[in-house]
Amino acid sequence: MSSVPSEFIDLVRSKTDIVDVASRYMTLNRRGGSFWACCPFHNERTPSFSIKPDGQFYKCFGCGESGNVITLVMKLENVDFMTALEMLAKNAGLEMPTSEEGEEMRRKKRERDRMYQIIKLTTEFYYNNLQNNKNTPQAKYLQSRGINDEMIKKFQIGASLNFDDLPKYLLKNGFKAEELIAAGVVGRGEYGLYDFYGGRLIFPICNGFGDVVAFSGRSVEAAPEHTKYKNTAQTLIFNKSEILFGFNFLRELKKQHMLDTVIIVEGHIDVIMCHQAGITNTIGCMGTALTTLHARKIKQLADDVILCLDGDNAGNNATYKAIDTLKEVGLNVRVVRLEGAKDPDEYIKKFGKEKFVQYLDTATDCVDFVLKDSAKKYNLNSNADKNNYIQEALKYISKFSTPAEQEIYLELVQKLVKIPIDALRKSMTKTDRPTEKVEEPVLTDTEKNKYITESKIIILAAMLYKKIKNVDEISGVFNSNDELSELYKFLMEKITNNKDYNVSTLFDNFKIEPNSPIDRVINYNFPADEMLNSIIKDAIKRLKIYELENEKTIVTNQMLSASTDEERYNCLNKIKELTDKIIKEKM
Ligand code: UTP
Ligand code: MN
Repeated sequence: MSSVPSEFIDLVRSKTDIVDVASRYMTLNRRGGSFWACCPFHNERTPSFSIKPDGQFYKCFGCGESGNVITLVMKLENVDFMTALEMLAKNAGLEMPTSEEGEEMRRKKRERDRMYQIIKLTTEFYYNNLQNNKNTPQAKYLQSRGINDEMIKKFQIGASLNFDDLPKYLLKNGFKAEELIAAGVVGRGEYGLYDFYGGRLIFPICNGFGDVVAFSGRSVEAAPEHTKYKNTAQTLIFNKSEILFGFNFLRELKKQHMLDTVIIVEGHIDVIMCHQAGITNTIGCMGTALTTLHARKIKQLADDVILCLDGDNAGNNATYKAIDTLKEVGLNVRVVRLEGAKDPDEYIKKFGKEKFVQYLDTATDCVDFVLKDSAKKYNLNSNADKNNYIQEALKYISKFSTPAEQEIYLELVQKLVKIPIDALRKSMTKTDRPTEKVEEPVLTDTEKNKYITESKIIILAAMLYKKIKNVDEISGVFNSNDELSELYKFLMEKITNNKDYNVSTLFDNFKIEPNSPIDRVINYNFPADEMLNSIIKDAIKRLKIYELENEKTIVTNQMLSASTDEERYNCLNKIKELTDKIIKEKM
């Protein structure tokens, strides 16, 4: 009996390429979508043994043998299942889980599976409530918002009619109170268990695969006494910083090659009304700030986004923040600021969907937007104000544009401030200068980021596989906010507290997508030991310099926007300190 959980087997399989493994035993030739070889299981001169990389299986058209990478290794090496698995695991840089780890993985998986079941039953329960009770305040409210039956179905919209029925129903289906609470659907109060979304209109929230993982419940009162929306907090299967409302539909569009631009709006009802108007590439941030994880998810599917957040002040601030986050992952961002309606839902209701589509077409490039919009804060007839605006504008231009784009944007600023473009160009180089690299080869930002990511991956892999003896030298080199830094924190915590850890520990703590940076850490191919030390040293150095330079850029920007001489003086001091440190590191 194998003591390894099926999750681990899947994991090994997902990190193993059958073509790669088979090529160690036979000569493969690619023809079309398959690889061909002479069959190792019977004698032949012309290849009839084929391997399909898409399906990760093999089949011999001569003798009929077929199977997956594990059976292939079993047969070729004449070993049993567990031995083959262990060989493949090792090859993929994975350690076989110990029996306790295996048990833990199985337990977590059971817990997750049951949570999915609870959520599924709950979704159906709410959905049926709405379908079977058309005279309830919930159904009437939905109608008053103009959402049609097709959308109710598409978004699986439901209703909670009271506080008692849901807990009763779920308990009757064999779930324990603790499980219901952990799933976020039931709370425990003075009088016992209650439906967490009691009396509300229910919007299920799906993960990328279209499984419901959480809910938002909207109050149907005209002036809600409690919060307008109640949302599921973090659970084992729901992380709000990586899930966007309606994202699952984008994946479907992408599959049909029908996705190029993603439209981001704030509210649930905004998303639904856009879909109802036929604008099905719309997703919602559910009223919270977009995170880098959100942005990366979007970037996996599309290169262009249009931000169409609420027209109020909060929406404006959110737009500025979102531009930064989205630009950082390399998305092209355009912006629409609504006028005459507070959000897309109201806009469509007031002016119709054609007008809304036309309005989306007028979306402006985000740098353009920021340059024009931030000018509104200043009185450009006053010299001091004009100067401040120029500083802000130039900073923005240097942050987000290529040299060619710079010219275009400088012209735009020139029109607003009416000073010669040459003067702007000169100030621009000044703004640029402190961040310029002195001796390093000139790398574009993305090349440089790749380099840094590589360095981080090496260091983390060395930590993970216990190849770093003295962790003091790497303390504090990870300062950015990304998933690799999370991994660094995680490993540092284990190492400094002398807790044991290995690869399989990671799978319970991180969501590891194929080819993501963390996945690459796990699968890192170490060079020979003699080389390894110098490579790690070099990576640490590079990272230290990078973090110092980042800090220097921040302080430099602070200096540029400083309002008093004293502030500027302090910044200069700090810059000098950092420069000294950088020079020392580089020596
Ligand atoms: P708004 O406050 O703009 O809602 O919140 P709205 O447009 O009036 O809402 P509807 O259209 O009448 O329902 C926009 C989004 O912010 C989140 C929700 O995702 C909502 O759709 N939100 C708002 C919350 O999560 N909690 C709240 O209490 C309010
Ligand atoms: Mn709104």
